[in-house]
Amino acid sequence: MKETVILDKKFREMIPGDVISKRIDVMAEEINRDYSGKDVVFLGILNGAFLFAAELFKRINLKAKISFVKLASYEGTKSSGSVKELIGWNEDIKNMHVVVIEDIVDTGHTLELIVGELKVRKVADIRVATLLFKPKAYTKKIPVNYAGFEIPNDFVVGFGLDYDGYGRNLPSVYTLIK
Ligand code: IMP
Repeated sequence: MKETVILDKKFREMIPGDVISKRIDVMAEEINRDYSGKDVVFLGILNGAFLFAAELFKRINLKAKISFVKLASYEGTKSSGSVKELIGWNEDIKNMHVVVIEDIVDTGHTLELIVGELKVRKVADIRVATLLFKPKAYTKKIPVNYAGFEIPNDFVVGFGLDYDGYGRNLPSVYTLIK
């Protein structure tokens, strides 16, 4: 079993890179089939989704664009406390078919925010592709259409996911050793 240390924590390999790669092949095939003949915008959520987005997008054979947005936290008014906002929109996506690309869907808060923003922008329809999905942590109703791997409610790193900024470059997904 491969293990790695990041800062003060130990992690064990959970999903090897070659398994991830094969799964992304299948996910891309599904998306290519489902959107056949359509013009699609892929929307990657930074920072975590950068690697998965690149791997998925290079397997897409549709008429497709890719764009990235980032969730930024800022201190709102006294009453609302910390507020999260999506920044980096540079694409007119009105009436487009959008595939949101996430690294991981955990509680679904992030996804809900993104889908809300997309609805305001009057896109044609929205589907969600995520490398990892924690169904036991998920509290929302939004369908997760393309989920690479369903995983337990544990902390993971690698393949774009970080622990305190580190570990994103690991080619496999690693889980925290408790
Ligand atoms: P959600 O809004 O609770 O669904 O969480 C989404 C975001 O939390 C992801 O895009 C990640 O940035 C982060 N996150 C959730 N679970 C993990 C994890 O196990 N490892 C690293 N980051 C995580």
